[in-house]
Amino acid sequence: MTARGIVLSLCDRTGIMVMPWLDAGYSAITVDLQPAANPHPHRHHIVADVTEWRYPKHLPPPVIAFAFPSCSDLAVSGARWMREKGLTALIHALQVVDACRQICEDSGAPFMIENPVSTLSTYWREPDWMFDPCDYGDPYTKATCLWVGGGFVMPERIRPGDMFDPPTWVEPTKGSMILNYGPSADRVDKRSATPPGFAGAVFKANARAA
Ligand SMILES: C[S@@+](CC[C@H](N)C(=O)[O-])C[C@H]1O[C@@H](n2cnc3c(N)ncnc32)[C@H](O)[C@@H]1O
Repeated sequence: MTARGIVLSLCDRTGIMVMPWLDAGYSAITVDLQPAANPHPHRHHIVADVTEWRYPKHLPPPVIAFAFPSCSDLAVSGARWMREKGLTALIHALQVVDACRQICEDSGAPFMIENPVSTLSTYWREPDWMFDPCDYGDPYTKATCLWVGGGFVMPERIRPGDMFDPPTWVEPTKGSMILNYGPSADRVDKRSATPPGFAGAVFKANARAA
């Protein structure tokens, strides 16, 4: 582990969210049921179920925590399938979110939990923030909600004319990137990958405090 501190990211296969932190010299722990995409020497990826995993007590607490629990059984867009999926799928999806919440809150660090527009608003509480990836320079729309705590700083949206270095905002593509993917085995993973512009903006907004 590096001296700058540890960044924790749950339900994170790609590690895109921790990349700006790795580039700045932090270490990262990512946890997912699936093996890591994009390995990095200072990224320690743990293949585990977050409902059975806890942050190791012997490590210093993380400087920030992120979580991307699966949305397939919670998304509003899938609500009409809920009756077919049944209560067991719903309860499990909520248990995964609750495990993320517990680990994030226990960390004492700033944290954010991400989900699309989802039934979490009903089962838990309204999200603290909503954004589209194009708000941070990623060229697509996908209404995304954040539940945050511990002093997490929501980054300013990047808009044309803003004095960012350099301006990275681009016109969103018509509709959603999701629709642009044809049927493929990794379609679900592609559409759920963290938008890199958002990851960079979160780093800029939170690293100074971390
Ligand atoms: C919506 S995707 C988020 C992907 C993330 N944004 C990324 O860039 O890798 C949800 C992720 O949660 C993982 N997952 C689902 N259930 C899990 C569990 N119980 N414990 C750990 N990871 C889980 C999935 O394998 C998937 O990678």
